[in-house]
Amino acid sequence: MSDKEISGEVYYPSKDVIKNAHIKDWDKLNEKVSEDYLGFWAERAKELHWFKKHSKVLDDSNKPFFKWFVDGKTNISYNCLDRHVNTPRKNKIALIWEGEDGEHTTMSYFRLHKETCKFASILKSLGVKKGDRVTIYMGRTPEIVIAMLACARIGAIHSVVYGGFSVEALHERIEDSQSRVLIVSDGAYQKGKIIPLKDIADEALQRAGTVEHVLVIKRTGQAVNMEQGRDMWYHELMNLPIVTNNCPVVEMDSEDPLFILYTSGTTGKSKAILHTHGGYMVGTYTTMKYVFDINDEDRFWCTADPGWITGHSYIVYGPLLNGATVFLYEGSPTFPYPNRWWQLIEKYGITIFYTAPTAIRGLMRFGESWANRHDLSSLRLLGSVGEPINPEAWKWFYKVIGKEKCPIMDTWWQTETGMFMIAPMPCVPLKPGSGTRPFPGIIMDIFDEAGKPVGNNQEGFLVIKTPWPAMVREIYNDKDKYIEQYWSKFPGFYLTGDSAKRDEDGYIWVIGRVDDVIKVSGNRLGTAEIESALVSHHSVAEAAAIGVPHEIKGNAIYCFVILKQGIERTEGLIEELRNYVSHEVGPIAKPESVEFVDSLPKTRSGKIMRRVLKAKVMGVDPGNLSTLEE
Ligand code: WTA
Repeated sequence: MSDKEISGEVYYPSKDVIKNAHIKDWDKLNEKVSEDYLGFWAERAKELHWFKKHSKVLDDSNKPFFKWFVDGKTNISYNCLDRHVNTPRKNKIALIWEGEDGEHTTMSYFRLHKETCKFASILKSLGVKKGDRVTIYMGRTPEIVIAMLACARIGAIHSVVYGGFSVEALHERIEDSQSRVLIVSDGAYQKGKIIPLKDIADEALQRAGTVEHVLVIKRTGQAVNMEQGRDMWYHELMNLPIVTNNCPVVEMDSEDPLFILYTSGTTGKSKAILHTHGGYMVGTYTTMKYVFDINDEDRFWCTADPGWITGHSYIVYGPLLNGATVFLYEGSPTFPYPNRWWQLIEKYGITIFYTAPTAIRGLMRFGESWANRHDLSSLRLLGSVGEPINPEAWKWFYKVIGKEKCPIMDTWWQTETGMFMIAPMPCVPLKPGSGTRPFPGIIMDIFDEAGKPVGNNQEGFLVIKTPWPAMVREIYNDKDKYIEQYWSKFPGFYLTGDSAKRDEDGYIWVIGRVDDVIKVSGNRLGTAEIESALVSHHSVAEAAAIGVPHEIKGNAIYCFVILKQGIERTEGLIEELRNYVSHEVGPIAKPESVEFVDSLPKTRSGKIMRRVLKAKVMGVDPGNLSTLEE
């Protein structure tokens, strides 16, 4: 695409940025990939280690249950570690970590490999086998990375539950996955306080009966309850002679499960998205390399939590597959002062910095001076993910942090996609607020209600038309729901749940969710989770949750509650309900507002009409009310 053809406000990459980039010409690559899509992915797979090569790149004979790298045998953990340990990268720093309290550590590939083997041998000694589920509930410390890699090494399926979730969310995820082992830390530091993860886990375990062993990692050191016969300190086990740092890797089929990760969907409980060793590995490896242009000199920092897909794909797997140096920070950006992140970029010489619009907006309000007192000249690329980035935040990020020399990789993707789907590369001209075009070879479209493509600049349902290697394979143990949720509205096409527009240059502008998912500070929450927490409170008869625009969080949660008969509407009860949701689901789900009402707008079939509620809060016309019952 020549410069002249692009309309609107465009930021062109400088020659410097492209000079050493893996991909210097997006259009050329796109053309090549489009000619031989499967050949492109087969080539990428070749860059990784396989115990046995695939016999077929893609098996699409049983849609929408696609299989990638059929019959291939590999192991993603082997590719993240062993593959590098056999090269000069052995001594390279794999992981740099800093705690909120200033404690820090670095680990070479050699050491990370050893630690992973030790962790894996402990899991094995607890009876964990290929295919078993292991729940991980921790803060951001090196052990969470090691625990994930250790599970993958022995073929166990990890299910990481974000440390910002609470009792009921953890309980539900343990029970649904039928995990026999829970890995938990005693606590995590956040904004100078301790989140008592082990205490929360104890409460969740009272409700969930499947867990036989709890492996406790010491981080904060406060007193915790250790249940005899169930709970064990990791550091004590590490000293036992059974622990070996030579734990053999299990050869996995490409399509063997790697992990499940719960995420909110349209209805009901959260769903376990299943990813596999082969396709997910090739997808995250390639997108990391091409979009973030990772190479050996880089120090890459993704500020997400390992408990979200962003952390899985672009803190742990994508970077380590590429042999990169990853930075992990435990705390929050504003503690003790709003310069913490900028200080860390300077201290560690971060070259690629990947964060979320909500964080940028949150830091923007403290002004430029916090960033300006640090030397951020090591940065060469920036990234954004989680929700649409408003142009104002984009420009602040570009100017104040990137000093107008670092392109911003605005990456659109989902837990389900596993890897970037719409994203630029450093050589691509950028428009603030658009992730530019789909990754080469991936065909996406925007449909109207009837499944017809809409015209340029018209809003519609964003769909994906081609399979991709890191795609979700199923909702764990629920194939029907997988079909219903993603492949039934427009049969044959993957429904993203987002609405979007496409401009005359083919750039896609994602607008937001069109289903009952709320993005709060980039975190994905389902209205159903919040509502079911509310109705489990003894004074609540019915509840509805919606997202309303919020300057920093993107969306805030607003709840409507019908109280049981005889319960008095008080300010105190509003506070109690907000705290109750926070305790049950997690602080990230705490409603901004709770409003008491006598009834909720419903369709004749009993579905809550959230759009009517939203219109009410925002003081706008609710639109067509013909399906409203009362
Ligand atoms: C939203 C996060 C606009 C979108 C990786 C998607 C985005 C949902 C972007 C998935 C972006 C993510 N621009 N919107 N760059 N990235 N989203 O599963 O609504 O937590 O459907 O995965 O986040 O959220 P999830």
